[in-house]
Amino acid sequence: MKALRGTSTVLFLITAAIALSIDPLEGLPAAAAALPSGIGYLLCRNPAKDSKLERAGNGWPGREPTKAGGALAGQPHASGTEVGKTVALDIMDQFKTTGINKTRSSRQEDELVARRRNGDASGLRIMVTGANAGIGFWTSLQLARRGAEVIMACRDSRKAETAATAIRARVPGARLRLTTLDVASLGSVAAAVAELERLEHLDVLIANAGMVHAPSARQRSVDGLELVAATNFFGHFALVAGLLPVLERAPAARLVTLGSLSTLLVRPHLDDPQLEGNYSSWQAYAQSKIMLQSFAFELDRRLQRTTFTTRALSTHPGYSLSGRTPRIAGVNEPGTFKRVVDTLQAPFTQGKDHGAWPIVRAAVDPDAFSAPGPVFYGPRGVVKGGPRKATPASITTDPEVAATIWKAAESATGISFLG
Ligand SMILES: NC(=O)c1ccc[n+]([C@@H]2O[C@H](COP(=O)([O-])OP(=O)(O)OC[C@H]3O[C@@H](n4cnc5c(N)ncnc54)[C@H](OP(=O)(O)O)[C@@H]3O)[C@@H](O)[C@H]2O)c1
Repeated sequence: MKALRGTSTVLFLITAAIALSIDPLEGLPAAAAALPSGIGYLLCRNPAKDSKLERAGNGWPGREPTKAGGALAGQPHASGTEVGKTVALDIMDQFKTTGINKTRSSRQEDELVARRRNGDASGLRIMVTGANAGIGFWTSLQLARRGAEVIMACRDSRKAETAATAIRARVPGARLRLTTLDVASLGSVAAAVAELERLEHLDVLIANAGMVHAPSARQRSVDGLELVAATNFFGHFALVAGLLPVLERAPAARLVTLGSLSTLLVRPHLDDPQLEGNYSSWQAYAQSKIMLQSFAFELDRRLQRTTFTTRALSTHPGYSLSGRTPRIAGVNEPGTFKRVVDTLQAPFTQGKDHGAWPIVRAAVDPDAFSAPGPVFYGPRGVVKGGPRKATPASITTDPEVAATIWKAAESATGISFLG
C-alpha cells in the first residue's frame, strides 16, 4: 500500500511537471497554482514570475544588489568608421573610441549605471551565436525583453526565423536582426564578419553556439579541424578576431563566452588540442570548453595591456536541460520521455531559460569588472539558480596554459591577433 502511494506521488509529480512545461507563452498554468508550494519548488518553475521579472527589467533573479562601480556596457556610441579587413593592431587603433561619452553629465552616467545594475539592456546591440535554440534562444529573448537589439547568428535561417517569431510573440517590438553563421566553418565566420564589420558598433558578443553532445568518434569540420573544437572554440576565436574592430567602436564592449562546469573535471591534452590521439566525446567537449573559457580570460588580459576598451569574461549555465524548459514550437519540443527523465533530475537541474540568467547578467552588469582578475558568472546554486559571480576552474585562469591554447587557435585558424 505504502509503495503504491509512493508510486502515485511520483506519477503525480511527473504529470504536473509535464503540464507545467506545456504553456507556450510562459504563463503559469492554472493547475500549478493549486500545487503545494513545496512541490512547485521541486519542479523549480514559476514562469509567470520569471517573465514578469524580465518584462519589468526588474533586477536579476534572486539578486543581491551590488554597489561597486565598473566598466559600463551600453554607453552611447561614437559613430562608426569604414572598416578594413585586417585585424592587425595598428589598423584597429584607428577605430578606438574614448570609452566614456564626455557629453553626458555625471548624473546621467549614474542613472545609466543604476538602470544597467537593474538589468536594463536598452541601447545595447548584442550578438548571440547559436541563438535559435537552447540557452542562446533564451538569452536572446531575455535580452530583447530588457530592451537590447539582438543579432541572432544561426547556421540555419529557417530555424532562426522560427526563433525570431517566437521572440516577437513574447516581446512585441523586439529589435532583432538575423545573420547566417556556421561557427564550425572558417569561411562562414569570414562571411559573417564581412557582413557585420560595417556595423556602427557592437556592445556585446556572446559566444554561445556549441556542440553539447559531441560525436562518439572523432569528426572533422569543413576546414579539416576536429569538429567539437572547431565549433565550440576555433570558430569563435576567428569571429572575435574579425569583430574586435566593431566591438572597439562601442565605448565599453565585452565578449561573453559559454564555459562549463566540465572544465573542473577534465585535464586538457595541451599537446593535442585537436585530439588526434586522445579523442573521446567527453574529452572533446570538456577540452573545447576549457579552451573557450581560457580564451576569454586570456583575451581580457591581453586587451588590458593595450589601449583597447573591450573586456572579456566567461560564464556557465549550471546544468540546464531542455526537458525542464518551457515548450516553444520549433524551438524546444522535447518528447514526454525526455520531460519525465529530466524532471526526475529536478533537484540538481534547471531549464535553459534559467540557464540563460548568468549569460544575460554577464552581458549587462555594470559591476562585472569591479574587481581585478578573471570574471566568471554562474548560477547561485552552482548547477541552478539566480546569477552571480563564480570561481572558474584554475586550469582556465593559468596564463601559461592560455598562451598554449592561443597558439593552437592561431595555428588552426591561420589568424593571429593581439600576439
Ligand atoms: N545546457 C547545459 O547544461 C550547458 C552546460 C554548460 C555549458 N553549456 C554551453 O552552453 C551553450 C549552449 O548549450 P545548449 O544547452 O543551449 O545547447 P543546445 O540546446 O544544443 O543549443 C546549441 C545551439 O548552438 C547551435 N550550434 C551548434 N553548432 C553550431 C554551428 N556549427 N554553428 C552555429 N550554431 C551552432 C545550435 O544550432 P542548431 O539548432 O542549428 O544545431 C543551437 O542553436 C553551449 O556552448 C554549451 O557548451 C551548456
